[in-house]
Amino acid sequence: MKNIHLYKNNKIVNKVFDNVYQNYDLMNDIMSLGTHRLWKQQFINSIDISNSDYIIDMASGTGDISKIILKQNPNQKVLRVEPNKKMLNFSHNNFQKFKHTHSICGYAEEIPLKNNSINKYLISFGLRNVSNLDKSLKECFRVLKKGGGFYCLEFYKVNKPIFKDLYKLYSKAIPLFGKIFNQNSEPYNYLVQSINDFHTQKKIKLKLHETGFKNINIKNIFGGIASIHYAWKLND
Ligand SMILES: C[S@@+](CC[C@H](N)C(=O)[O-])C[C@H]1O[C@@H](n2cnc3c(N)ncnc32)[C@H](O)[C@@H]1O
Repeated sequence: MKNIHLYKNNKIVNKVFDNVYQNYDLMNDIMSLGTHRLWKQQFINSIDISNSDYIIDMASGTGDISKIILKQNPNQKVLRVEPNKKMLNFSHNNFQKFKHTHSICGYAEEIPLKNNSINKYLISFGLRNVSNLDKSLKECFRVLKKGGGFYCLEFYKVNKPIFKDLYKLYSKAIPLFGKIFNQNSEPYNYLVQSINDFHTQKKIKLKLHETGFKNINIKNIFGGIASIHYAWKLND
């Protein structure tokens, strides 16, 4: 744990997820009216996963992304990386039957893997939570093999008229749902704020380019409320 500032921010985020882990899945369903499941499935469907791929599910939370991948192929080699022990442990039993999936309690900024060791790096609704985005992208690039892919599903602020109003309404409702179902609106204020404070899709594309990624693409879902980023490591 080298960078004190970095881990101070991570500590704050960790506290947020410490407060929501028990109801995280239920809250996701309520807040998104179940659509997060469709988006996650759409995310995985859009990735050409080969049986031999070694995949990282970064910021895995309770493991939704890993679950979808393992449903398709129970023998897929998947590593869940998640800094919040409560989120990680909460779903531990769901993965015990799978022989080739493992988990690490760790951060996107410091992945305990050798250079060029994985084929695919997936991060779902996690990129905006990392404390040091540039460092996290560099780490992703470092651990990916040549030819490997970065795949990111993330929420974004929307600017299209109808979607903008819908999003405004929704942002106000989230902390309210949090209060009702989790007896605490604070973590949900953070979730809304983290979307408002996050970069635009264009800026993420630029950051991926600066990291060294090539063939960078974006696919918007539901008017851009969520987007999928694709990027490739073609050289070291
Ligand atoms: C909104 S949840 C997403 C969980 C899951 N991927 C999903 O799609 O449901 C964000 C996750 O990012 C994790 N996280 C926060 N800071 C992180 C960091 N620096 N590196 C990796 N994961 C982090 C949190 O602990 C939390 O579990």
